[in-house]
Amino acid sequence: MSHTVTITDNKTGKQLECPVHEGTYGDPVIDTSALNKELGMFTIDPGFGITASCRSSITYLDGEKGILLHRGYPIEQLAGQSTYLEVCYLLLYGELPTETEYDQFRAELNERNMVHEHLERFYSGYRYDAHPMAMMIGVTGALSSYYHEAMDLDDPLDRDLTAKRIIAKMPIMAAHCYKHSVGHPFVYSRDDLAYVENFLNMMFSVPMRDYEPSAIAVKALDLMLILHADHEQNASTSTVRLAGSAEANPFACITAGIVTLWGRAHGGANEAVLNMLGEIGDIKNIPQFIARAKDKEDSFRLMGFGHRVYKNFDPRAIIIRKACHDLLEAVDTVDQPLLDIAMALEEIALKDDYFIERKLYPNVDFYSGIILKALGIPTSMYTVMFSLARSVGWISQWLEMMEDPDFRIGRPRQLYIGAEKRDYVPIDKR
Ligand code: CMC
Repeated sequence: MSHTVTITDNKTGKQLECPVHEGTYGDPVIDTSALNKELGMFTIDPGFGITASCRSSITYLDGEKGILLHRGYPIEQLAGQSTYLEVCYLLLYGELPTETEYDQFRAELNERNMVHEHLERFYSGYRYDAHPMAMMIGVTGALSSYYHEAMDLDDPLDRDLTAKRIIAKMPIMAAHCYKHSVGHPFVYSRDDLAYVENFLNMMFSVPMRDYEPSAIAVKALDLMLILHADHEQNASTSTVRLAGSAEANPFACITAGIVTLWGRAHGGANEAVLNMLGEIGDIKNIPQFIARAKDKEDSFRLMGFGHRVYKNFDPRAIIIRKACHDLLEAVDTVDQPLLDIAMALEEIALKDDYFIERKLYPNVDFYSGIILKALGIPTSMYTVMFSLARSVGWISQWLEMMEDPDFRIGRPRQLYIGAEKRDYVPIDKR
């Protein structure tokens, strides 16, 4: 505690001294937990815009300065020098792995590199044109019906094993969603391939031939996964924590995260961006879409613009924007007209007073779809890719919560504005 803040109830004159806690970085937080006991009040903060729901040492972001740190390491350094699996280890265990620790981590993931053969039957329950996110929700939820032998929530080893299972199995389930939608046979995971290569192989190899991704494609996908790995207490992560706080099955908690991520205001934005760019179709149509985004009578928003926390720039967007251009120079699969529309839209919006006043900048999802498109991943799979990347963030946050001495079930309060107490009227008297 650094100091206190005094809250005065001007109606009764009662006062409460609230402790103020300072973190390593960021604005201090006022501890209002005694408010109800002492003053008989709750707080209200729709959308949790100023409410810290937990203490966390995993990720820090500063929305004004555009800073994103994982366990203290800047995202720019991780994106430039690390790999997704190394970032997974960092998020889970708090430190970058030594070579031995990294090899052991990989070996342990490889041990879990399969899903139960019965899981295939869950896919066949879906129509070929089911949205892959709908399938992901179903099959990840189905994982909660396995692994009963290692489901003691009080056992750190069981919790760790669950985390590894999730990281190892998410790429398999994601690739199977795609294979189901195109009617191809599922491809098994391979130990001899690295995480990203293995995923691309499960996505694109067919019985007639293996898939050999280019080094640049592997690097671009690895980068995309790193940039989406964790993002502090966002909507899907908070959902995972809330479900986990009830001591629900962890696979079901991750499923709850996938459900939330699918929303177009959250992870669903990457798919929505590509659809929007396609709808714009030509640079000459941009002003018309900008006008719609500004029109309060129209529900249309510029997808991939704006962020609850980043009010200057999204550091992930800066990194991925450059990666888009690098990819464009290196491969001919980047959709140049689409990228041109994206660049022109960004330029026009950034000069527009509406977007300037509201501090609306392109976020990571504005560019990630262009990278995924260049890798041949279909638009409907974009949010699945996000869920694959974010699963490590979700499970790291879940692990942290389970070890937190302050851990208790999440239970927000409300301001009731409904009817006053009244008596039941029998149906024939209404
Ligand atoms: N296009 C047009 N206007 C916008 C946009 C947009 N993309 N985003 C916000 N605004 C306006 C909004 O209408 C409001 O205007 P006013 O003050 O006149 O009423 C103002 O900006 C503040 O918006 P808000 O809805 O209060 O902001 P929020 O913090 O609640 O929402 C957001 C953040 C990301 C949900 C929102 O900016 C949005 O819907 N963006 C488009 C979807 C998107 O790109 N989502 C991905 C977010 S980043 C990755 C992730 O989290 O998954």
